[in-house]
Amino acid sequence: MIDQQLKSAIRDVPNFPKPGIIFKDITPILRNPQLCESVVDSLVAQLPVTRIDAVAGIESRGFLFGLMLAQRLGKPFVPVRKQGKLPWRTVSQEYALEYGKAVLEIHEDAFEPGTRVLVHDDLLATGGTVTATSELIRKLGGSVAGYAFIVSLESLGGREQLYAYSKDIFSLISY
Ligand code: PRP
Ligand code: MG
Repeated sequence: MIDQQLKSAIRDVPNFPKPGIIFKDITPILRNPQLCESVVDSLVAQLPVTRIDAVAGIESRGFLFGLMLAQRLGKPFVPVRKQGKLPWRTVSQEYALEYGKAVLEIHEDAFEPGTRVLVHDDLLATGGTVTATSELIRKLGGSVAGYAFIVSLESLGGREQLYAYSKDIFSLISY
C-alpha cells in the first residue's frame, strides 16, 4: 500500500543535478501530511526499536524524516552535516558521492560512547553518504543500530557496503 503511494508520489527528474543522473525527488511526499505520517509509521513498524538510543539524520534530505523518526521513538536526534556547517567542535569524514566528493561532520559531543544510533537518510544510492556517517558514529565510540531509508537504489551496491556496520537495513521502496 504505502509502497504504491510512495512510488506514485516520488518524481523522476532526468539529468539533475548532472547529465545522466535520474534524480528521485521526494518533495511531493512532503505535500501530503498523511503520507508523511505513514512513512514514519511504516519505518517504525520495521525498526528494532528497543535497540535504538538515538537517530542520526543526514543533511539535507535526511533531516526531513530523521527528526520525525526520533520524535516518534522518543530518542535524541543527531544532525550529520556537510563540512563547515556545524558550529561546535566536529569530527569529519570524507566520502565519495554518486556525483562528486564531499565531507560530512558530526559534533564531537553528539552522543556518549556506547550509544546505538539508527542512521536515517531519504535515499540509499552508492552508500557513500551513510558509510561516512557510520564511520563518524564509530569515531565517537557509538555503534550503528540499523539503517532506515525511504528509497534504496539496489543496483549500485550500497546495501552490501553497510553490512560491515549493521545488517538491519530497512527501506520502504526499492528500485
Ligand atoms: C543524496 C541523497 C543521499 C545521498 C545518497 O544527497 O539525499 O543523502 O545523495 O547517495 P549515496 O548513497 O551515493 O551516497 P545529496 O548529497 O545529493 O544532498 P542533499 O540531501 O542535501 O540533497
Ligand atoms: Mg542527501
